[in-house]
Parts: sequence; C-alpha cells; structure tokens
Amino acid sequence: MSNAHIPESEWFSYRDGVLACEKVPLESIAAEVDTPAFVYSGAAIDEAYRAIDEALQFAPHLIAYAVKANGNLSVLARLASQGCGADIASIGEMQRALKAGFSPDRIVFSGVGKRREEIEAAARAGIRAIHVENVQELDLAESVAQELGRPLIIGIRVNPDIDTKTHPYIATGLRESKFGLAIPVAEELIPRIVESAHLDLAAVACHIGSQLASPQPLRDAIEILGSFAKFCLDRGAKLRAIDVGGGWPMHYGQEVDPYPSAKAFGDAIRGGLEATGLLRPDIEIVTEPGRAIVGDAGILLTRVLYTKTQGDRRFVIVDAAMTELIRPALYGAYHAIMPVAEPSSNAELNPVDVVGPVCESGDFLAKDRALPLVKPGDLLAIRGAGAYGREMQSMYNARPLPPEVLVDGIRSRVIRQRSGPEALWQGEILA
Ligand code: LLP
Repeated sequence: MSNAHIPESEWFSYRDGVLACEKVPLESIAAEVDTPAFVYSGAAIDEAYRAIDEALQFAPHLIAYAVKANGNLSVLARLASQGCGADIASIGEMQRALKAGFSPDRIVFSGVGKRREEIEAAARAGIRAIHVENVQELDLAESVAQELGRPLIIGIRVNPDIDTKTHPYIATGLRESKFGLAIPVAEELIPRIVESAHLDLAAVACHIGSQLASPQPLRDAIEILGSFAKFCLDRGAKLRAIDVGGGWPMHYGQEVDPYPSAKAFGDAIRGGLEATGLLRPDIEIVTEPGRAIVGDAGILLTRVLYTKTQGDRRFVIVDAAMTELIRPALYGAYHAIMPVAEPSSNAELNPVDVVGPVCESGDFLAKDRALPLVKPGDLLAIRGAGAYGREMQSMYNARPLPPEVLVDGIRSRVIRQRSGPEALWQGEILA
C-alpha cells in the first residue's frame, strides 16, 4: 500500500497485511503485552546512531545521546555498547546511564538548575564534564571541587542567541531563553576560571534547540561558539572539546519535504569549525542528539475502544492517552498514525479526532486526521513515539505505566513491564 497519509518506513511496514516492527507483527505484540505499549525497533536505533557517527567521521567525536529522549535501560545499554556517550539533565539520568553501562568519562551533564548534591555526585562519579550555565553555579562548582580536593572538569554552556525557527517550547538558543550564559558574561568569567586551581575548563558548549529544519542555524551557532572557544584558548584554557548540542531532526510524518540528511548536519558542523579554525585533531566534537536516534525507532501501540460522532466531529477513542504521549497536547505535535491492519489502497479517508480516555479536553493524539474507517478492537500505531514518549509519561487518572518492547528482527523482548497497582501508591503513607 502506498498512501501518503500512512507512511511506511524501513522498520515499520506492512507484511502480509499486518503492520510489523522489523519482522514482528504488531498484532502478536499486542496479544502478548496488551495495549497501550511502546514498541521499539533495535535496528532503527542502530541505524540512526550509525548515520550520525558516519556524518562526523571527519574529526574525533563523541555522540552524547540525550538520555532525556528515552532512558529505558535496554535502549541505553544498546547505545553504550556501540561506543555512544550520554548527555544527562539530572543525577537520576546519570544513575540510569551508569547502570546501563556508560563509562563516566563519556557522560556530560547539561542542565539549567543543578543542585549542589548533583554537582557533587557527578564529580564523585568522575563524569567527563559538567556544563556550567550560571555564574552562581560556577561558584558552587568551585566550592564543590575545593571540598573534594581535586579540580572539577567543566564546560561552559553559552547561549549563542540564534533563532532556530523551531517550536518555541523546544527552542533554547535565544537570548531571552533560560539556557546557557550570554557570551559577554561567559567571557568575563574566563580569566577567573583559568586561574582557579579548582576548575579545569575542558569544553565549550551550546544547544540551540530541537528539531532543526535546516543545518544553517547550527553552523551559525558553531561559528559563534568557535569564536568563544578561541577566546578561551587565547586566555590559557586547555580546551579539549566543542559540544554543539542536539537538534538533529526526525520525521514525524507530516513533512512535505524531508529534512536534510545527517550528513548535511555533519557538514554544517564541519563548516562552522573550519570557519573558526577549530577543526583540529586535539579538539573533539561532542554532539547530543536525542530524538534523531530513538524517535522514529518507536511507536505507541494502541487499541480502539469506541468510535462516536458528536456534533460534526468524529471521535476515535483509544486506550492510549496524553499520559503516554503528551506531545500532541503540549506542543500540538503531529504524529503519523497507521492502522495495524493494512487498509486497502482505495480505502476512504475521513477526518477524525483520535482521543484518549483521560478526563481532559486536551487529551488527544491527533485532530482532524484523515484515517480509514476503524472500529472497536482495531489496533493503531502512533509513529515517532520513541523519543519524549515514556520519558514524559504520567500516571494521571491512576493509569499504569505501559510496557516497552524491543524488537530485533524476528525477536521481541519486553524491556519494561506494565506497572501494577502497587506502583500507583508507591511511597504513599496511609495516615
Ligand atoms: N542537549 C540538550 C542540552 C538538550 O536540552 C536537549 C533537549 C538535547 C540535547 C536533545 O535534543 P533533541 O536532539 O532530542 O532534539 N519534550 C520536547 C523536547 C525537549 C528537548 C529538551 N532538550 C519534545 O518532545 O519535543
């Protein structure tokens, strides 16, 4: 079947009339673990990682996967075993990354509000760099290092003030955003950092935002970051890395033109570094992709509970909700939806709202979506759910956390079980 509204991919395609993840029909996964459930393609994760790695072959580099996109231990372990590093946003994420087997010296810690205990824990674990993005945080980091009696390896995250034209909630590189240090402020700090016996400035960093539609803003940001790096080097900093953040895009299914390839983003990084003379063997490139590695490797498998027509709207009520995938409710995000039973190529498409059981009008997974006729019991696959799905889940309306299944070829393994009722009140004290 080829229907522009129902895009197949290499990892999610119809086989004998049933949508499969690699070679496993999604019907059999639903029969095994019930719905809703997240299903991930291992090969898709490997391939996405490989494409980024290949795009950066021109220089020494570390892909520090943004754990916040999907921190399932099996997903992390898979990436760690391929030489991937990790970008963490909290000590919880560090604990996950270490448990999954990432070596501490491949972990970078970015985050706008790190607690003292978090800086201490990261320093004790010996991670590769703590990215400082606040003057007060620098004071705190210095005092932690003094207390521990050894220099703390830091990066300075700057805010290059670049407009990425991405959704305002996922743009982070503008002057008025809370992220990073303004460059003039960062520059003022450099002499003090270089002189400090407690701080070792190893990296400069930025992250201008997610889902970059073009590599140009990344290149622009790297030129700004590169000039800042030169400023640091000229003042005696022993920089070993330039961290260009995440932002590598993924397809959600509504794109008219495909995003530029990983290679185009790699070339932009190269161009930005060359322009500032920083493409050097002694400076490693770090990048922090999240969704580009796991996003399109995952679907949310859900079952139709009911359909109904109300006023002039047709609703498809499914058993997944904003609790499993909040992106449509939070950002108005589009996720392609594919019926698991292959529709005929001339199936009539009608606009429907795909909604969940949660008691919120904002609980929708798609609005006005052209879908073939579906009936109670039918399975649907919501694409692009591998990133920021499970990580942003909640137990609102006392809904259990869904299982996660990892597919490799003909094999599928449950990598998280559906939570039971005890998880609903875990930690509560009945007074
Ligand atoms: N590095 C840093 C410092 C970040 O803050 C982020 C994402 C990334 C890397 C990875 O970005 P990616 O390559 O995945 O776009 N919940 C939102 C996304 C928030 C992203 C926050 N930071 C969403 O579902 O779109």
